[in-house]
Amino acid sequence: MPDSLTLRRPDDWHVHLRDGDMLRAVAPYTARQFARAIVMPNLAPPVTDVEAAIAYRERIIAALPEDAEFTPLMTCYLTDATDPDRLAEGHARGVFTAAKLYPAHATTNSAEGVTDVANIRAALECMQAIGMPLLVHGEVTDPEIDMFDREAVFIDRILAPLIRDLPDLRIVLEHITTAEAAAFVAQSGPNLAATITPHHLHINRNALFAGGIRPHAYCLPVAKRERHRLAVRAAAVSGSPKFFLGTDSAPHARETKESACGCAGIFNAPFALESYAAAFDEEGALDRLEAFASEHGPRFYGLPLNEGTVTLRREGVAVPNEIAGLVPFHANETLGWRLEAFPL
Ligand code: DOR
Ligand code: ZN
Repeated sequence: MPDSLTLRRPDDWHVHLRDGDMLRAVAPYTARQFARAIVMPNLAPPVTDVEAAIAYRERIIAALPEDAEFTPLMTCYLTDATDPDRLAEGHARGVFTAAKLYPAHATTNSAEGVTDVANIRAALECMQAIGMPLLVHGEVTDPEIDMFDREAVFIDRILAPLIRDLPDLRIVLEHITTAEAAAFVAQSGPNLAATITPHHLHINRNALFAGGIRPHAYCLPVAKRERHRLAVRAAAVSGSPKFFLGTDSAPHARETKESACGCAGIFNAPFALESYAAAFDEEGALDRLEAFASEHGPRFYGLPLNEGTVTLRREGVAVPNEIAGLVPFHANETLGWRLEAFPL
């Protein structure tokens, strides 16, 4: 059993860094672990054009310590009105790494999202032509569909037809939570990949109701039954290049989570790598963590692998019950691996 684990520096292929005070509070936790991160555009108002993305990128860099070595990779929030030429221009200028499809009303700040994928058909054709990845929040919003089925139904109704119509479009199905998603991604061609969060490796839907309602375990897509958690774990540790790290760290002010209508999102940034290491360790798959965290993502995005390294030590790390006024994932638990990095 190794007592330390040195990995090529990883990237986070899905994170919410927010803006303003919250950005300043949370971004250093991501930057101390990850060399790059795909930054979600669901601000209010959303990041729908190149100028907004450039300004946001500058605010992110300004929120970090001077010596941080971190590159935010920006994304464009797709709407029914997205102009394919502007999208392509943003990609060509190196501002937009990818574009994000939020089905309208699927999650936080998605009211301006896409009401029907037919409305973004020209943008998707353009992305396919220029090799710009599409990132997908894969849940239908149909109120008739059970909350716990929304990902599987999205695959059948939206994703499978989209892949048939645009087979060369590179797609990341974000934060997968179901056996159906894991199987669908695994059996699809090389243009479909998926990110996996630490929380979906650790919790099933019981965590939402452990002794009472648990708002800090609520995120979207919501955690599913145990068999789904196990299928997502198996995908993460499978060694398949189609699965890679994306924390979906999604901080919300404490009072907006502990509310009669609590916000969706789990703030996992402070101990994200430790959390993934714990899950891989439990699966006897620590030897596969580096590929999942540091190789599969950049290869899918066509970006270089990072040069530096990070080291984890087999040592208990106590997660506090509050960080920057927020309740972190694993609050009050002790994790078995500690990241060697400057403390915050
Ligand atoms: O739990 C979530 N929180 N899921 C999402 O899709 C969005 C995110 C957020 O921005 O809060
Ligand atoms: Zn997200």
